[in-house]
Amino acid sequence: MEINTLETTDVVMLEHYGAINEYISNLGSTRIAVLVDDNTLRYCLHHFSENFEHDFELITIPAGEEYKNLKTCEYIWTEMLRLGLDRSSVLINLGGGVVCDMGGFCAGTYMRGIKFIHIPTSLLSQVDAAIGGKQGVDLGKYKNTIGLIQLPEYVLIDTEYLDTLPYRQLVSGFAEVLKYGLVYDRSIWDAYSVLPDFKSADMIDVVAQCAAIKTRIAEADLYELGQRRILNFGHTIGHAIESFWLEKKDPMLHGEAVAIGMIAEAYLSTIYCGLPFRDYLTVKERILHLFGRKYKSVADTPALLKNMKADKKNERGVFQFSLLADIGTCKTGIAVSEEDIAISLNEYCKEE
Ligand SMILES: NC(=O)c1ccc[n+]([C@@H]2O[C@H](COP(=O)([O-])OP(=O)(O)OC[C@H]3O[C@@H](n4cnc5c(N)ncnc54)[C@H](O)[C@@H]3O)[C@@H](O)[C@H]2O)c1
Repeated sequence: MEINTLETTDVVMLEHYGAINEYISNLGSTRIAVLVDDNTLRYCLHHFSENFEHDFELITIPAGEEYKNLKTCEYIWTEMLRLGLDRSSVLINLGGGVVCDMGGFCAGTYMRGIKFIHIPTSLLSQVDAAIGGKQGVDLGKYKNTIGLIQLPEYVLIDTEYLDTLPYRQLVSGFAEVLKYGLVYDRSIWDAYSVLPDFKSADMIDVVAQCAAIKTRIAEADLYELGQRRILNFGHTIGHAIESFWLEKKDPMLHGEAVAIGMIAEAYLSTIYCGLPFRDYLTVKERILHLFGRKYKSVADTPALLKNMKADKKNERGVFQFSLLADIGTCKTGIAVSEEDIAISLNEYCKEE
């Protein structure tokens, strides 16, 4: 089933390997490499190999956000060279958001850019990370600081991969699903925020709805000059939290950090954007029910504010937020003070 197209080069599909098999056939003789991490090597490569009709080389990297950096890129570029990839070659990124972001960046820069295909295997990457052309890596603990915007040839979405995804990772992906509900389509929020847990959700429906929204928004504003900024809701505080935890032994997952960010930024929305306070309380209660209370110590707030100062979205040293005017409606480019960010984190920690 075809969901939508970004440009002629970026097609988002469900379970349709025929298109990429034919695409590779049409390229003639060329070298293909598949990038996987430890987990997608173990759980996803088999299903991919059953459906992909061409020979390929394999590049394997360790799993986890802590490896999404230039050191791993150097390894990937070196492997690409060793395996004989040239400018006619294609890199297929088979994995979650880390493999897609980093593989897209490596392909987009190798020999000044070769073609690549994303086959996202986590929920988060199927509904968000693999779509929209943002490729990149972290610089130290700072999220996605180095990168480029370049569209893959294809994004092939096959929900069968989700069968082996650990539940904690599935929950993390649902943070982005709920975000689409809060910033764009209230019916998504109404449908999924009231579930007792995410085990009962129909994943084909979830992925089809959210991938279509992401495609539509990215298509209208590829370079994030306007509407695409609504997708940053929850991410200014979320990225600062994710960066802070990256240095710890048990890093917080992207979606877990975004869930905290969405609660704190919903509180900021009541101050700056007119979100009714009762809606903030509903957002807080439902997200805490599904994700738990993971940020516990306001003593960490100064470190988070320091991380936020390196955020790409800041303009002339001022924090720029995307905030909710209502559930399902988001406004962008809102300057927020440091004091209010600290208050919003304090609010998050408050037991009702
Ligand atoms: N480019 C964008 O527009 C964009 C948008 C949102 C998030 N992101 C990025 O995406 C990343 C988060 O993505 P993620 O949550 O997919 O992280 P991830 O790639 O680390 O995947 C999560 C974990 O699940 C494992 N995994 C993936 N698919 C699996 C499967 N089918 N079965 C078993 N295990 C599997 C991975 O090996 C990893 O351990 C972050 O780096 C974030 O910055 C990018």
